[in-house]
Amino acid sequence: MDATDMGQDLKSILVDEAELDQRLTEMAAEIDRDYVGREILLVGVLRGAIMVMADLSRKIHTPLKMDWMAVSSYGSGTKSSGVVRILKDLDNDVHGKHVLIVEDIIDSGLTLSWLRKNLESRGAASVQIATMLRKPEAAKVEVDVAYVGFEIPNEFVVGYGLDYAENYRHLPFVGTLAPHVYGG
Ligand code: PRP
Repeated sequence: MDATDMGQDLKSILVDEAELDQRLTEMAAEIDRDYVGREILLVGVLRGAIMVMADLSRKIHTPLKMDWMAVSSYGSGTKSSGVVRILKDLDNDVHGKHVLIVEDIIDSGLTLSWLRKNLESRGAASVQIATMLRKPEAAKVEVDVAYVGFEIPNEFVVGYGLDYAENYRHLPFVGTLAPHVYGG
């Protein structure tokens, strides 16, 4: 999928493919520097993080293993409650592991704030976060994030794992949607 498949639905490209690739290379180098002598357990948060997991992990030289979680806020439209439900838990015990959570986006910060505490309570040796995108203006809680790809404005974004009604996840760039798509 590319911009031409979006027609009038694409408002603008916010972060293009080359910028994503370049930033991921830099983030992987930072991670390699920080984790010398340690093995990483990359924890991808389904479903949005699949692209970041695939691309970031392939640029990391430090030994690593991968695991996945799926989480969801309770009910619908209650994301701001900060109550998170585990839909799919990790397959591995994180006790004593150096966990690096991989996300596509941090919006309010509530999901990651909860997830970090949850993994720390299981006895992980360390828990850090890497996210491709972050919306500082949308933050409801402060989350200490070690690796941030890009800080972006508080706009509706799609692509590179991010969806609107499950569409556009396979766009190779991050773009903003034209308001007519979401009735804005
Ligand atoms: C997105 C994203 C984070 C969360 C961030 O997932 O992948 O997990 O929202 O939002 P927050 O900072 O406000 O908590 P989403 O619930 O859209 O699910 P998906 O990854 O399956 O698309």
